[in-house]
Amino acid sequence: MKKSRIVVIGSGAVGATTAYTLMLRNRADELVLIDSNEKKAAGDALDMNHGIPFLGTTKLWAGTYADCQEADIIIITAGAAQREGEPRTELLKRNTVIMDNIMNEVMKHNSSGIILLASNPVDVMSYYAWRKSGLPVSRVIGSGTLLDSARFRYLIGSHLSIDPRSVHAHIVGEHGDSELPVWSLANVAGTKLELSDEDKDHIFTNTRDAAYEIISAKGATYYAIALALDRICTAILRDEGAVLNVSTLLEDYHGISDVYLGVPCIVDRGGVREVLKLDLSDSEVELLNRSAAKLKALNASITI
Ligand code: 2OP
Repeated sequence: MKKSRIVVIGSGAVGATTAYTLMLRNRADELVLIDSNEKKAAGDALDMNHGIPFLGTTKLWAGTYADCQEADIIIITAGAAQREGEPRTELLKRNTVIMDNIMNEVMKHNSSGIILLASNPVDVMSYYAWRKSGLPVSRVIGSGTLLDSARFRYLIGSHLSIDPRSVHAHIVGEHGDSELPVWSLANVAGTKLELSDEDKDHIFTNTRDAAYEIISAKGATYYAIALALDRICTAILRDEGAVLNVSTLLEDYHGISDVYLGVPCIVDRGGVREVLKLDLSDSEVELLNRSAAKLKALNASITI
């Protein structure tokens, strides 16, 4: 039987924590870490391998792009990270160059796996990777607003003293400053949320600005994004058909086309199987269109 393999490109804070999370959860038979700083990837692999006796049978090593060949999923986390107070979009030029090199290498070795991107600005990077690869849209996925939706559900759950897994609420649009909360559809077991406008405002602001808060406190975010990436890998490898707010190409979605944005999608072994069209309010449609316009302008500012 073919072994499952996940390659993680970029062994910085996000990549290393993602590999560690995948290892803890026994997510794949084989995990490969690739970094332009080979010493760092080798050190991380060694450190993690010393934990294998406490866990299971995952085979983990620091590899090269040739290891992408057998990969079911290639997670791209490489790139410059946000500095304190810097929006994700500031990383655009620096990370496009890095993404260009990575996609050239990946496509030399793998044309059958699923590419999962987390490098920021993730919606622009995902669109770029999709265009550059020539792969079907279903197989180039951005982490999108999955983490933002988790933050949102966590904050709503904390406010109402309800387990966040029982809170159904979505953040859609850019993974970044123009994202929006879908309050019109947020619910617990089909019941409307008992929240004042002030509470809603507070919850959404803390959701949207969470990364700024964490980066200002400790320089980077990595634990929750690693779990979000693990969640997407699970949906793919187990062919779950899970609904996850990942970044994908929108076509005729409330008037939006030809841009990657975070919206609820059905994810299975083939990647994004279907985009779910939320029944948004008029003001939410307007905000989503604004977010799309911002990202389209950013997409247009880089050449493919
Ligand atoms: C996050 O939202 C910085 O995009 C990263 O945690």
